[in-house]
Amino acid sequence: MSKIRAAITSVGGYLPEYRLTNEILETMVDTSDEWIMSRTGIKERRILKGEGKGTSDMAVEAVNELLRKRGIGAEEIDLLICCTVTPDLVFPATANIITDKIGATNAFGYDLMAACSGFLYGLTTGSKFIESGQYKKVVVVGADKMSSIIDYTDRTTCIIFGDGGGAVLLEPTEEEVGIMDCIMKSDGSGRVHLHQKAGGSVKPASHETVDNKEHYVYQEGQSVFKFAVTNMAEVSAEIMERNNLVSEDISWLVPHQANKRIIDATANRMGVGEDKVMLNIERYGNTTNGTIPLCLWEWENQLHKGDNLILSAFGGGFTWGSIYLKWAYDPK
Ligand code: UT7
Repeated sequence: MSKIRAAITSVGGYLPEYRLTNEILETMVDTSDEWIMSRTGIKERRILKGEGKGTSDMAVEAVNELLRKRGIGAEEIDLLICCTVTPDLVFPATANIITDKIGATNAFGYDLMAACSGFLYGLTTGSKFIESGQYKKVVVVGADKMSSIIDYTDRTTCIIFGDGGGAVLLEPTEEEVGIMDCIMKSDGSGRVHLHQKAGGSVKPASHETVDNKEHYVYQEGQSVFKFAVTNMAEVSAEIMERNNLVSEDISWLVPHQANKRIIDATANRMGVGEDKVMLNIERYGNTTNGTIPLCLWEWENQLHKGDNLILSAFGGGFTWGSIYLKWAYDPK
């Protein structure tokens, strides 16, 4: 019997309507469109507005689209993994909220937190449930309402992040397509450079933590940049070498969208031209767990069966990794 692989068979995505442009940010903090564009490549990002709206609301839209496109019902889902750093609640898991809202009554689910690499970690773990033969339909969601943890008076972080999310369906195949290889890495000593100071068990929420703005993203941008630019490029090259791939074999680089300069360095290291890089950072900024599934969603109509994709990310933790996958279907 040939090996069972996990293939992506459908994609969904969701972006909130409201556009927070660089021009609007210029009125909020001491910054400029020129600075933001030259340092990050971001022009605007989407923000989820509305009382009581959270990450699950964006995920529900993405998963429902994916189901519609595949022509299946929510009750057919076996497992839903929600990759996020902005869960609806501290507990229960946002995955449980999503499965309830979409009517996935036969699914179990859990959240996975690996900051900007979360979606790749989720795809790796989700694929194992398919490869083992235990489950037939696994949904991996990557979504974040970053605006819920961003300080809009801090010009070093508020210009980067946005809201949005996407989801993929994994199903078994015995063809030579699907997830071919994964390399996941982490180094917890990097946590000092990028984290949220309060709201966890070490420093529960209090009046003081709120006054000190400790529930917002804390990032030492330059330190994170240094690690990101080296490690995302290295791990992308490593997965190519391990699979005997040369740059001509790569159809698309699907990078986490944190900073255009990090993406350029990764593409250079891989020897891949800009025309083969999925890039939407200009329009959506860094949606953390949302960036990679949103790229797949936007580019789906340009992907063909057998295309070689390299998915790469670096983020808080530190966490980073690369996935090599062969796309499993032609445009519909
Ligand atoms: O996705 C998760 C992982 N995160 C990342 O990968 C992010 C990695 N880091 C970065 O992308 C970049 O470090 C940033 C975009 C966050 C910052 O860019 P940078 O080129 O590293 O800038 P910097 O922090 O070195 O700051 C340079 C200058 C500073 O002024 P001085 O000290 O030279 O006078 C900053 O105060 O730019 C200043 N600055 C700004 N100026 C205008 C910082 N933010 C802004 C701003 N507008 N928004």
